[in-house]
Amino acid sequence: MTETNPQITIRQAKIFDVPAISRIESYTSNTPWSADAITHDVMSNDKAYIVVAVCGDETVGYADMWVVAGEAQLNNIAIDEGWRGHHFGEALLSHMIERAIELGCDVMELEVRRSNETAISLYHKAGFQDIAVRRGYYRDNREDAILMNKDLNAIEADYETR
Ligand SMILES: CC(C)(COP(=O)(O)OP(=O)(O)OC[C@H]1O[C@@H](n2cnc3c(N)ncnc32)[C@H](O)[C@@H]1OP(=O)(O)O)[C@@H](O)C(=O)NCCC(=O)NCCS
Repeated sequence: MTETNPQITIRQAKIFDVPAISRIESYTSNTPWSADAITHDVMSNDKAYIVVAVCGDETVGYADMWVVAGEAQLNNIAIDEGWRGHHFGEALLSHMIERAIELGCDVMELEVRRSNETAISLYHKAGFQDIAVRRGYYRDNREDAILMNKDLNAIEADYETR
């Protein structure tokens, strides 16, 4: 599935995208996924759906989710630092939600650090709700995680009535 907005193209990641994804991961995460873990999702994890956002020759972001038993777990979404604030994160998130619906998911779930106000704002804007707090969830600094979810059936029903 490839999708284009005026500035970026969102397409499924290939093996040659792994170095760019690893680079973005290393800049944006305190506990970055290894290149091996990313390669596994790109190449051989049939539960994984992983995309890159490309602007010209540059990979500006990526997103990764796992689909299991009708639930989509959004593992990460990241935009490279110099490219933030152009609604690329929002475009990536919309893409993942649409793909999860196409794959028959009822719900999308994610965890986010309590201090990550930018991501929390993005998720709230996209209609995610706070479900629970996982105390001390992150191993690097024992920070709490906010568990959020979004009911995808409500969106399907909305599409059907249009
Ligand atoms: C979270 C992230 C993906 C957002 O990407 P982005 O392309 O910069 O965000 P967008 O331009 O699409 O903004 C969409 C919404 O996010 C929120 N947002 C974006 N930047 C923000 C900021 N600096 N402060 C507060 N909220 C912000 C706003 O709600 C914004 O909507 P608005 O512009 O109508 O106010 C990006 O900041 C990032 O990669 N962060 C590091 C990785 C990360 O934390 N990922 C989430 C892991 S759970």
